[in-house]
Amino acid sequence: MTSIISKMVLTAGPRAMLARRSLQAAPIVASQAAHARRAFHQTQNLRQARIPSLPEFSLQDRVIVVSGAARGLGLTQAEALLEAGAVVHAIDRLPEPDKDSDFARVAKRATDELNSRLVYHRVDVREQAALGEIIGGIAEKEGGINGLIAAAGIQQETPALEYTAEDADRMLSVNVTGAFMTAQAVAREMVKRKQKGSLVMIASMSGTVANRGLICPAYNASKAAVIQLGRNLASEWGEHGIRVNTISPGYIVTAMTAGLFEAFPERRTSWPDANMLKRLSYPEEYRGAAVFLLSDASSFMTGADLRIDGGHCAW
Ligand SMILES: NC(=O)c1ccc[n+]([C@@H]2O[C@H](COP(=O)([O-])OP(=O)(O)OC[C@H]3O[C@@H](n4cnc5c(N)ncnc54)[C@H](O)[C@@H]3O)[C@@H](O)[C@H]2O)c1
Repeated sequence: MTSIISKMVLTAGPRAMLARRSLQAAPIVASQAAHARRAFHQTQNLRQARIPSLPEFSLQDRVIVVSGAARGLGLTQAEALLEAGAVVHAIDRLPEPDKDSDFARVAKRATDELNSRLVYHRVDVREQAALGEIIGGIAEKEGGINGLIAAAGIQQETPALEYTAEDADRMLSVNVTGAFMTAQAVAREMVKRKQKGSLVMIASMSGTVANRGLICPAYNASKAAVIQLGRNLASEWGEHGIRVNTISPGYIVTAMTAGLFEAFPERRTSWPDANMLKRLSYPEEYRGAAVFLLSDASSFMTGADLRIDGGHCAW
């Protein structure tokens, strides 16, 4: 994997810092380059060092649920929320990550450095009853929930002529129904307690365009559905003070894409070439968007899609 990323970065001509970080990370997808990331953000002991400027970005004492937070984008965004002051409850279908995992590192950092908590709950977002029970339990224990990032998602590359109904249903049930039911469970707690809040669902630039050379008809349709779902939930729940927005990332270096680079090496260069910055993105590049959308900094923003794709869709 190291060679894949290194080659990809060298041929894509990225910003020097990201290139250095990539070249050092071995393997970057598995470890999320924990040390490099720490150096990148310089966020140790934030509680003591926090400067009281831009208070609208603070998530101090907010309770936020993040689905798909065992790893990847969800975990990286969860760490950003913790740094901004939130208590975070992670939900994911994977068994609780072990003590050597990135998740364990972030959970330890939350208690040791950030005076906060990262709590793990194992559940499949397709299991509506169990999901509702877990989210209800979080709200009960914490006295409410202030926000959500629904990042749990799956991907499958199969030509449309070969797609089975079973696979298409699975894609839509995780990416669309799963995100919908997670948002619904959190919104129900907010409405019940008359608490305002902010919900974010992770869509994709693939919800807006068909990717050249990446054949994912059901995935792309599912992400278009997430964007449209976001607008509809925003229109229904705005009267309760609940904002709903989506984030549409471009290609991110995570476990989800790592397998595709192994199967299709030419994508190491063709994907970066397809955007204006000529490189892939990293989960850390979506930290700011998460804090912005969950905090009062975006208080008048709802029903919107925040596309962060290196200009891929803007050609
Ligand atoms: N990686 C990319 O290039 C990219 C680009 C655009 C959007 N996205 C989206 O970002 C989100 C995060 O993706 P990632 O790249 O971090 O992938 P990832 O596979 O590393 O992480 C996804 C997480 O979701 C969890 N998950 C999957 N199905 C679940 C289910 N049914 N119930 C509960 N948890 C479940 C997985 O266990 C995993 O921890 C996804 O919604 C993905 O579609 C990714």
